[in-house]
Amino acid sequence: MRFIVCSDYAEMCAECTKQISAQIILKPNSVLGLATGSTPIGVYENLVQLYQNNELDFSGVTTFNLDEYYPISADNTQSYHFFMQSHLFSKINIKPQNIHILDGMPADIEKECRDYEKAIVRSGGIDLQLLGIGKNGHIGFNEPGKNLNATTHLTDLTETTIESNARFFKNVNEVPRKALTMGISTILRSKKIILLASGFEKHMAVQSLLTDNINTQTPATMLKVHPDVLLICDKEAYEG
Ligand code: F6R
Repeated sequence: MRFIVCSDYAEMCAECTKQISAQIILKPNSVLGLATGSTPIGVYENLVQLYQNNELDFSGVTTFNLDEYYPISADNTQSYHFFMQSHLFSKINIKPQNIHILDGMPADIEKECRDYEKAIVRSGGIDLQLLGIGKNGHIGFNEPGKNLNATTHLTDLTETTIESNARFFKNVNEVPRKALTMGISTILRSKKIILLASGFEKHMAVQSLLTDNINTQTPATMLKVHPDVLLICDKEAYEG
């Protein structure tokens, strides 16, 4: 795993934006795997800016988001559908039919997960997967100690994740207890992976990722088996 330590959040986002822009310029029909949460917001702002400056064209790009709460409707303002529309998709020229996000209210959960996997394969596979990391080392919603060779599946969120994500809701009781997520196997099939980590609260997870052997308590350590992973973090996440 390669890593870049940036001085702050803005520099981390700028570095990641460079990588994603290069991917799209070199391959205009790239398939991107995208994350939600606080960490990539600055990257999405930069990508929107580049689009507005006519420096990036998303018309050939296809996207697959990592995860979605369950149960939640797409028009709920806390859904990841809503997050992606407001931070990125409504502001760039991506074709709606090229956007893929797991349905948070599927009639048949297993079919939804199977179809998502098939759609990724049909697209030619994810060229570049963007990831954040949970305080507990999760990637996507692959929580510590869970089945870490899974494909897309429904999972229970841990109390740590529910508490962390409560900041986006009125109170902790409103945070869904479950989510649909790409599994570690799905993530590892991406051709290239960028993992972002910012702030002191991610230090323990980053330290574990960089120093521990692969283990199920820090799901991000599974990335060590992948040949092309780039960790971009800021000083606070790196040094603590
Ligand atoms: C989001 C996701 C999560 C987040 C992680 C970090 O789609 O899959 O793994 O990347 O929880 O969240 P933030 O960036 O809010 O600290």
